[in-house]
Amino acid sequence: MTSYKNFSEYHIPKIDRRLSEMIKSIEAPTILKEAMNYSLAAGGKRVRPLFLLAVLDLLKVNHSEALTVGSTIEMIHTYSLIHDDLPSMDNDDYRRGELTNHKVYGEALAILAGDGLLTFSFGVLSRLQAVSAEEKLELINQMSQAAGAEGMVGGQVLDIESESKIISVEELEMIHINKTGALLTYSIEAGAILAAADVQTKKALREFGFHIGLAFQIQDDILDIEGTTEVLGKTAGKDVASEKNTYPAFLTLAGAKSKRDWHYNQAIQCLRTISNEPVMLDEIAAYIINRNK
Ligand code: IPE
Ligand code: IPE
Ligand code: MG
Ligand code: MG
Ligand code: MG
Repeated sequence: MTSYKNFSEYHIPKIDRRLSEMIKSIEAPTILKEAMNYSLAAGGKRVRPLFLLAVLDLLKVNHSEALTVGSTIEMIHTYSLIHDDLPSMDNDDYRRGELTNHKVYGEALAILAGDGLLTFSFGVLSRLQAVSAEEKLELINQMSQAAGAEGMVGGQVLDIESESKIISVEELEMIHINKTGALLTYSIEAGAILAAADVQTKKALREFGFHIGLAFQIQDDILDIEGTTEVLGKTAGKDVASEKNTYPAFLTLAGAKSKRDWHYNQAIQCLRTISNEPVMLDEIAAYIINRNK
């Protein structure tokens, strides 16, 4: 099996190309397309499309729409970041090593660029060629649950509402599961849908997504403390400054790390019910807890 480094170096340029082609294909005001492309082209780890591709790799399926579906998830994720950075939300000036969208295009265009990315993604899913009507509906239905009020949007509301408030660790977990876990898990589920995985495999993958989604956000919170603005490409130390509820704030850094590692181990155990041998998903999971940005 190839390493995470090789896998990502092979696939990320293809994801980047597909994203840029998709934006070019949109008939919309030039300034809007520019703003939509700005945050996408700034880069990012592309973890969600890589997850989708790694699920197909695990299930030994080569699907002609994989790159397109992965790119729609990256678009929705990028929209969530553009809105997350707005002054009315986390009020951040840097993202992916560049000025945030609203710093360059203004708040109105940043909001609308996010709206554009979100809505466009659903249209792309509805127009997929090599996917049955039934599977398309499943992809769209699950995307709306993961990205919307029952998932990411709901989690973002809880995150914002709980700033400077005392909440329970169960409430903190709910925030993490929804604001970050839901879309990340969707990227894994979407791979399983495209691969027409059986019920048992889908269940194990969903559980893997649950644990690795939590580990991902715990690491995000840890990096906000231990990382540097330069490497992260976004301002470090913002969570304490904004009195956010995070795992390190609850459990100390050491406690957060052991919680992260516990979820990582649970995630790996889920994979072992599908494959005896380590697969690319193992590699991505390890990357997620060891990453420095
Ligand atoms: C950051 O996401 C926001 C969270 C959901 C934790 P990523 O860490 O995936 O950001 P990019 O895509 O690499 O910029
Ligand atoms: C953001 O969480 C989650 C979403 C954008 C859905 P954070 O607010 O912790 O993400 P960063 O740290 O700004 O990337
Ligand atoms: Mg936030
Ligand atoms: Mg933020
Ligand atoms: Mg964060």
